[in-house]
Amino acid sequence: MKLTNALSVLVDLSYAFRVAFLPTLRDILHAPLLVFRPVQLSRLFMAHVWVFIGNTTDECYSSVKSGLLPDAHGVVLEIGAGRGHNIRYLDKTKVAKYVALEPNTRMHSEIRKAAAEVGFTEDAGTFVLLPYGAEETGLINSALGGPHTIDTIFSILTFCSVPNFENSIRPLVDQVLKPGGTLLFFEHVRSRRADVFWWQRFWTPIWAKVFDGCELGRPVDTIIEGLDMWERKEVTGIEGEDPETLFVHSIGRLTKVSTAA
Ligand SMILES: C[S@@+](CC[C@H](N)C(=O)[O-])C[C@H]1O[C@@H](n2cnc3c(N)ncnc32)[C@H](O)[C@@H]1O
Ligand SMILES: *[C@@H]1O[C@H](CO)[C@@H](O)[C@H](O)[C@H]1NC(C)=O
Repeated sequence: MKLTNALSVLVDLSYAFRVAFLPTLRDILHAPLLVFRPVQLSRLFMAHVWVFIGNTTDECYSSVKSGLLPDAHGVVLEIGAGRGHNIRYLDKTKVAKYVALEPNTRMHSEIRKAAAEVGFTEDAGTFVLLPYGAEETGLINSALGGPHTIDTIFSILTFCSVPNFENSIRPLVDQVLKPGGTLLFFEHVRSRRADVFWWQRFWTPIWAKVFDGCELGRPVDTIIEGLDMWERKEVTGIEGEDPETLFVHSIGRLTKVSTAA
């Protein structure tokens, strides 16, 4: 494996620090007690990072998203909506309600703004914003008025950050998604190459600290495919992606069995 690939992460890390260090420092000066709240601090930093990297990422993968997200239909739940970059890819004629899950409340005003731009608002009952993580299925279902209310769940580059993903994805699909519902995802995943995976694991401790828990070599695709709740599954990669990249991607469309388990 080429060293430039193995070390590419350093470029991203230094960029993140360049754009987010000063804004985060400014926040700390306004609220010094933040230094004792590492989780809060990490989210703050991520919110500042995503102001810049969010746009670049969106531009870079807009064709993947255009091919995937128009499949979302009915009541749609986005996992980790970030700054609301993905809303405009939805086919509005197919979406009855857009529910955004985003535990980082620093990003909420941007999500609300992006939703309003395409016509989803809380006032009209077509938009709901929940401050929870994907692992908090009890809270999600309470807020939604019960289990099995969601027709489509989608996640763009977020499942990598959900804590204890292997165990928390199951209740999300089992209890939040309707029978017959759809899961769409676009994620970076574990490389099938041993040398690339070695580097993914090597960088994860520092990468996860900087990027809000993001695990580089997490086999998100394999874990999801392995759930025994699918009637149909289609999981592919990006055509022509460099096999040596630490950010190897996976695109998934899965349909949950229609009979309630
Ligand atoms: C890399 S960003 C992607 C944002 C957005 N999906 C996009 O495509 O622009 C990851 C997002 O996941 C959110 N996140 C972190 N932990 C989460 C969790 N446990 N559940 C749901 N979202 C989470 C972060 O706050 C952040 O907005
Ligand atoms: C990101 O994109 C939005 C929408 O195009 C734009 O308004 C904003 O200024 C951009 N932010 C940065 C930091 O480039």
